[in-house]
Amino acid sequence: MTNRSPILAANMPLKIVVLLSGEGTLLQSFINRQKEGLPIEIAAVISNRPNVGGLARAEKAEITAHEIDHKLFPDRATFEADLIKLIDQYSPDVVVLAGFMRILGELFVDHYQGRLINIHPALLPKYKGLDTHQRAIDAGDSEHGSSVHLVTSELDGGPVIAQIKLPILPEDTADTLSERTKKREHLLYPEVLRWIAEKKLTLSQGIPLCNGEPLNSPVVLEPDGEK
Ligand code: GAR
Repeated sequence: MTNRSPILAANMPLKIVVLLSGEGTLLQSFINRQKEGLPIEIAAVISNRPNVGGLARAEKAEITAHEIDHKLFPDRATFEADLIKLIDQYSPDVVVLAGFMRILGELFVDHYQGRLINIHPALLPKYKGLDTHQRAIDAGDSEHGSSVHLVTSELDGGPVIAQIKLPILPEDTADTLSERTKKREHLLYPEVLRWIAEKKLTLSQGIPLCNGEPLNSPVVLEPDGEK
């Protein structure tokens, strides 16, 4: 590994701010893995929806939690300007979208270019947008999964960094598939954070580099064999 990420100081944990909108099981996976030695510092958790499970999980883990309800703003631009102000108080290395269900505009995305990542429950470029599990079942796909990608202003369209796959079972419903996909996401997303923290993966200028080389295709994390 020759390239050092300019976004990281030497030997410091990766400082992240987590943005979410719901239950926060991904956040929980970060908290759990951090306790096992994942070199991250969760500086703050921010939700655009009030009273969600993710905020409660943050508070329980004694992480600073904020709600910033997008409905209280006249438009996207003013919401995002306030969100940027709040996030930048923490000077994160990476802003981590973990179930943040709000489209982000160009202003926001440009501000965090190269340090904004998202997880999307589909094998991108398939099934951008909503209802990914049902759409994969309806299409008769034999496998499904989740993707971590750099965020650009195109919805779920930035360069894909890593994916994890699972089979779609004949008896799967959108709910069971979502539940099993989430279990895989809880392995994948903390692992990607580890690669960034350990500087195996750098994201500068919107191009993911793995050990200094451009990623030609997403890294596929092999699941443990369980369905
Ligand atoms: C996750 O499955 C994540 O992939 C998805 O929301 C869920 C959040 O779960 N994100 C998206 O659909 C973004 N397009 P959680 O609230 O339990 O962490």
